[in-house]
Amino acid sequence: MSKIELVIVLAAGEGTRMKSKNSKVLHEIAGRSIIQNLLAAVAPLSPKNLTVVVGAHKDEVIDHLAKVAPKAKTVFQDKRNGTGGAAQLALAEHKGDGTILILAGDTPLLTTQTLQEFLAVHQSEKNIASVLTALLPDPTGYGRIVRREGSVILKIIEEKDATESEKEIDEINTGVYLFDIKALREVIGKLKNDNSQKELYLTDAISLLNSNGDNAHAILSNDYTETLGINDRTQLAECAAIIRDRINNQHMLNGVTIIDPTTTWIDADVKIESDVVIYPSTSITGESKVKSGAIIGPRTTLNSCTVAEGAKIIESNCTESEIGKDAKVGPFTYLRKGTVLENESKAGAFVEVKNSTLGKGSKVNHLSYVGDAQIGEETNIGAATVFVNYDGEKKHQTKIGNQVRIGSNTMLVAPVTVGDGAYTAAGSVINEDVPAGAIGIGRARQVNILGWVLRKRKESKSAAAAKKAGAKE
Ligand code: UD1
Ligand code: MG
Repeated sequence: MSKIELVIVLAAGEGTRMKSKNSKVLHEIAGRSIIQNLLAAVAPLSPKNLTVVVGAHKDEVIDHLAKVAPKAKTVFQDKRNGTGGAAQLALAEHKGDGTILILAGDTPLLTTQTLQEFLAVHQSEKNIASVLTALLPDPTGYGRIVRREGSVILKIIEEKDATESEKEIDEINTGVYLFDIKALREVIGKLKNDNSQKELYLTDAISLLNSNGDNAHAILSNDYTETLGINDRTQLAECAAIIRDRINNQHMLNGVTIIDPTTTWIDADVKIESDVVIYPSTSITGESKVKSGAIIGPRTTLNSCTVAEGAKIIESNCTESEIGKDAKVGPFTYLRKGTVLENESKAGAFVEVKNSTLGKGSKVNHLSYVGDAQIGEETNIGAATVFVNYDGEKKHQTKIGNQVRIGSNTMLVAPVTVGDGAYTAAGSVINEDVPAGAIGIGRARQVNILGWVLRKRKESKSAAAAKKAGAKE
């Protein structure tokens, strides 16, 4: 049975300081929204019920929760009258008794371990109420913990309501609480807005409990960085850097070499096997999977790509692509959605590939566009080849067989097929199928007009050079 009856996440606030058209809790870190990061930390506690209080941008937040936390219930706080008001609404919707965990939606750094330790102390001490606290180097802006004796909290005083001596206190309220639901129900209706912000403060529940003879206890967190909240873009960047370091450290502990962890950004859901090497300024995002021995970077972006053993990707941008075993990509290569590079194939410098398969051992080494193509095995696509897939209205397919040699600067005008072992002559425009073993030549025949430079450019340096070489008029 779960130890937690109900989790309430407070996420109705306006997020004014983000200066954003979008909801604060939907801004992303490591490929997950801020609130999703928090919910991922809460999930292993397996609460029986989860309620998110929504307000500002409620439709977006509700849509997002339907995707990332389909079991979450949402409660709408129309009038943002404070954290106490938000908690009142969520509690009114819930019938059961037991332990309730309350958190703010904008604290994505909290870890499952910290929440579990907090719960363990709360339960072993048989507390009615516990507040997760932290000692901050700069506590400005946070609610301060005024202790009565030992761990017992007399009250929590908000910065805006604090006296000068209360502001000296460096132990702060992280906004994470555990309560016995019954005890909280008894006091939550008694909150008053007689404070500088004219809001109902959830924190006032602590002193109300005291006057009922119930004590709230401070439980100090070991790592204050976990409790940082996001109110503006500077804090968003600070929290993102902390999450980046956590993710990178985990990969390094698993045997991945990360040459420069400060410039390597890996999303939370990416899977990387041991003995992968990642060079600086690289991002690996979305649902990417990288197998052992692959070498990625420098300056490479992989978004939802799969990379097989031993593949090398240098200075490239790849999205929703599959890169086979020992395949090579880059430098300066753009792999778009639907690219499949089979084992030992290569997409080289200044090559763009979209919705195409390059068979085993085939190569597109330089300066080419490959769109909507199926290319067989051991085929070579010469430099500056373009798969002309668009007729101005529709996209068409090109099919190239095995062991084909496409000459440099060939335009393959789709739909077109080149059979196994066929060639195309350099500079050809191929708009008819080339049968197996044939060479397709689609260009004007060359004509040399002898002596032309000597007659038409008489005084030029070219004419002098030609004469020296024995050319005649
Ligand atoms: C709150 C605490 C403060 C603590 C700090 C920790 C109170 C009165 N103060 O202050 O002691 O140090 O968090 O970060 O609780 N929200 C709603 N509805 C509202 C108002 C807020 O859902 O009407 C949500 C916000 O979206 C946010 C959370 O509650 O996720 C906290 O609100 P915020 O305004 O950020 O409170 P702080 O001033 O940070
Ligand atoms: Mg806040």
